[in-house]
Amino acid sequence: MKNQNSLLNQVKTTFTEYYQSEPRLFVAPGRINIIGEHTDYNDGFVLPAAIDKQIAFAVAKNNLNCFRFYSTDFKESEKVSTLDLGQDIKLWAQYLVGVLAQFKKIDKLDSGFDVIFGGDIPVGAGLSSSAALECGLAKAINVLSDLKLSDIELVKMAQKAEHEYAGVMCGIMDQYASVFGKKNQVFKLDCRDNTHKYFPLELGDYELLLVNTNVKHSLASSEYNLRREECERGVQYFKTFDADINALRDVSKELIEAHVDQPDPVSYQRSKFMVEEIARVGQATGAMENNDLHLLGELLYQTHDGLSKLYEVSCHELDFLVELTKPLNQVLGSRMMGGGFGGCTLNLLKKSFIPEFKEMVKFEYEKQFSKSPDFYGVHLSDGAREFNYEIS
Ligand code: GLA
Repeated sequence: MKNQNSLLNQVKTTFTEYYQSEPRLFVAPGRINIIGEHTDYNDGFVLPAAIDKQIAFAVAKNNLNCFRFYSTDFKESEKVSTLDLGQDIKLWAQYLVGVLAQFKKIDKLDSGFDVIFGGDIPVGAGLSSSAALECGLAKAINVLSDLKLSDIELVKMAQKAEHEYAGVMCGIMDQYASVFGKKNQVFKLDCRDNTHKYFPLELGDYELLLVNTNVKHSLASSEYNLRREECERGVQYFKTFDADINALRDVSKELIEAHVDQPDPVSYQRSKFMVEEIARVGQATGAMENNDLHLLGELLYQTHDGLSKLYEVSCHELDFLVELTKPLNQVLGSRMMGGGFGGCTLNLLKKSFIPEFKEMVKFEYEKQFSKSPDFYGVHLSDGAREFNYEIS
């Protein structure tokens, strides 16, 4: 909480200094995902939650024909005309302009805005800092222009911004979690009809801990888009056996097993992983409801194995961190989390073991890669929202 207040204080103070006016304040969180990786764009299920790492925004209409942005983290500014939302701008500003472009498309951009933002979501860690940036701004414009767009409309606009301005054909999970997150709750999201169900995260003597590899390999977005195509080839292939198949979610385990020799082995591997992963989300939800943390941990390991060998979105650093945990009785499960090619592992482990675990992982990781990992405890938070009370 302290951090959220200090982030809000910082953007508010900077705003008043820069623009001599009173902004309204918003926050939007990053996310974790317990299980269900790459399933969102295959009409599958995911199990995400918003976390207490966030971006704070100070925003006001400026009655000018331009948008002015300032990032307190990068200490950089950007200015864009309301008439021409060009793309020749700094990378971080493209996410913001991407969102503005969605409002413009539906003729809902009635003014210029000043936006100052800053946060504590580590960039490139697979915790969706870009979704937080998009969703926070979408929420702010919706409120400031009194548009009354629904949350799901804002989520879809933020996702479109990522497609059109960042070139990543992402699914809906990150933006959905940043908007719909709820304190102390995870939720199961059906990415076919966009309905969700919350449930509390109750881990008893255990806890979730993120370990950041502090690497992000550059092929992340091109490989991501390629995985989508490979999955789509799988759909086209299996559709020839059953016309009702519209996504890999519709493919059964039996159908997969009966087609080991299909002519496109890469697409087959991706499809096999996907069918297994979608089934695992159901098993994991059951395990959480029954308090069976050993099963949940086992499923995390299975997911990692599939992401690494069948879906091929892991990397040495992530595999190394997961392998390190396998001989440890106090760790029930570990896996890479998010799109892949770097970022964090998610670990389910005994609370009392955390200090020793951190020390051991830091030592081994530094020895192997000559760089340090970072550790983040997981605390689940509310989704993007306006901050209404006066902060000191
Ligand atoms: C990225 C995307 C999400 C999702 C995950 C993998 O975070 O933005 O839509 O596909 O990868 O689960």
